[in-house]
Amino acid sequence: MSGDAVNRRKIQHIEIIQSDEGVERRKNHFDQIQLTHRALPELDLAEVDPSCTFMGKKLDFPLLISSMTGGEHTLVKTINRNLALAAEATQVAMGVGSQRVMFTNQEARDSFAIRPHAPTTLLFSNLGAVQLNYGFGVDHCQEAIDVVGADGLYLHLNPLQEAVQPEGDTNFSGLAEKIGAIAQTLEQPVVLKEVGSGFSEVDAHRAIDIGVKFIDVAGAGGTSWSRIEHHRQATASDDIGLVYQDWGIPTPQALRQLAPYRNQLTLIASGGLRSGLDMLKSILLGAELCGLAAPFLQPAMESPEAVIRVIERLRREFQTGLFLLGCKNLRMLKEATDLIRT
Ligand SMILES: Cc1cc2nc3c(=O)[nH]c(=O)nc-3n(C[C@H](O)[C@H](O)[C@H](O)COP(=O)(O)O)c2cc1C
Repeated sequence: MSGDAVNRRKIQHIEIIQSDEGVERRKNHFDQIQLTHRALPELDLAEVDPSCTFMGKKLDFPLLISSMTGGEHTLVKTINRNLALAAEATQVAMGVGSQRVMFTNQEARDSFAIRPHAPTTLLFSNLGAVQLNYGFGVDHCQEAIDVVGADGLYLHLNPLQEAVQPEGDTNFSGLAEKIGAIAQTLEQPVVLKEVGSGFSEVDAHRAIDIGVKFIDVAGAGGTSWSRIEHHRQATASDDIGLVYQDWGIPTPQALRQLAPYRNQLTLIASGGLRSGLDMLKSILLGAELCGLAAPFLQPAMESPEAVIRVIERLRREFQTGLFLLGCKNLRMLKEATDLIRT
């Protein structure tokens, strides 16, 4: 597929997300998890410290602005710039969207070169793992990392999205071995991620076998890529994207399945997290970092300040939850798994 087509597709995705509210599934799987309220938290809210360290970098609280975009277009360049400025100002982590386009369109590179906007905070580059079956190799991965100035590389797995896409790259055979080779070769850590359908226990085992140490479960409940691709179908009568729009493992369920492997895997929660309370529950379920994508899209089109407002809301919600559970910091929260009631 040409660089122009990949570039156009990224813009189409944004337009679809803005025009169809149903793309945001609002499944609220986290609402089913109840926590034990502490009427006597024995803490001063002002002293509750939500900070954490991830991949050696200190974050103000465990938030990741999940991978979204990049390309040759003023809009996506503005989005990445605003997100990066906000991430740096608030000291949270950020990932860029798939960098595949920059290998066929030189003009797209600028949009991914965000390190000057975020000199210190944790940044991730991003490529589709399936591209390892379509000519990409370790050099592409290293270049993707270098252009961002990233601390780690996200390799996303999106078999559903590719299967529904009219022009999808659907050869996922023999991928695990290739991902393993990349993970063993690169100096920077590789994070394996879904895009909204979740990670199962069997795939986590496979990840461990091939030497991957980080998994972002990116489960079901929030943005549905199947539904987004439905809008791009060649024929209007083809409903496959709607049939599969809620396919996948809900994020809390994926975390629960993978939690027993925390001595071998560091878990990141994403997919349908919409509040600091969802983040709190994710950490209790075993995650070390919490990603949100769609809630940042509109603010990122406006300004860094608009993005910062969302981050500040999430931080307040998260810190309040720590207080209400009687946890002064994240170390205490991670030990407080008995506070999950359901
Ligand atoms: C506009 C947009 C573009 C995205 N592009 C990418 C991408 O290029 N690479 C990727 O790994 N995930 C991509 N995602 C998926 C998100 O990183 C995330 O896994 C998914 O949207 C679930 O999170 P959410 O429910 O908070 O949106 C994108 C999401 C959005 C909203």
